[in-house]
Amino acid sequence: MSHRILLLGAPGAGKGTQSKKLAEEYDLEHVTTGDALRANKDMETEYGTPRSFMEAGELVPDPVVNEIVEAALAEADGFVLDGYPRNLDQAEYLSEITDLDAVIYLDVDEDVLVDRLTGRRVCDECGANYHVDFQPPEEPGVCDECGGDLIQREDDQEDTARERLEVYRENTEPVIEHFRDEGVLVEVDGEGTPNEVFDEITDVVES
Ligand code: AP5
Repeated sequence: MSHRILLLGAPGAGKGTQSKKLAEEYDLEHVTTGDALRANKDMETEYGTPRSFMEAGELVPDPVVNEIVEAALAEADGFVLDGYPRNLDQAEYLSEITDLDAVIYLDVDEDVLVDRLTGRRVCDECGANYHVDFQPPEEPGVCDECGGDLIQREDDQEDTARERLEVYRENTEPVIEHFRDEGVLVEVDGEGTPNEVFDEITDVVES
């Protein structure tokens, strides 16, 4: 059976890390607005380019993001969705275009989030994710998977990371509340090791 999973959580909660594992485990499409926007940072839209919003830690306007998600979900049989919805209007749009069978919230304390974001490094070539302390590569600055250079995302500088957390509190926490009120939200402790968190998530998906 194909799953339709939504993974919610603050910036740095581990959505990308866990989504990748879920997509592999259950043969799902990984639909992530963050990666889609990073791949199209300089795309011209009537609101300007995504880059200006992303580098300030702000949300990209809804119509741009809604279109990306609708196209990606229309092509996917099963999926794990990460990075969307980030406000109540996006949540409403999502409920119009698909049904979900699991909504999982990764709960991580704010101090841990800042450390995870500022220490994250990503591969310039293949996008693999590392952390200088928590998930270091074998050789500093070099990707274990493809040998590419590891870089810091622009928006992982401490000031922008804190701004993203502020935007999250204001816009995205109400989305978590919305799913909690609907009685469909399952909370998972996101502070274990990546494998411990993954085991908890798969228990939810299979229950
Ligand atoms: P996006 O790319 O979606 O970023 P985010 O939600 O801020 O999430 P992150 O990718 O930073 O964190 P994550 O939860 O995936 O954590 P990860 O697994 O990497 O969005 C970026 C920007 O795009 C936004 O600011 C906005 O401008 C725009 N945007 C995107 N979607 C949008 C939308 N829907 N509407 C409008 N605008 C949108 O883990 C983080 C680090 O922690 C890594 O280094 C990892 O190695 C480490 N780590 C992970 N798990 C663990 C663990 N269990 N223990 C120890 N370390 C861990």
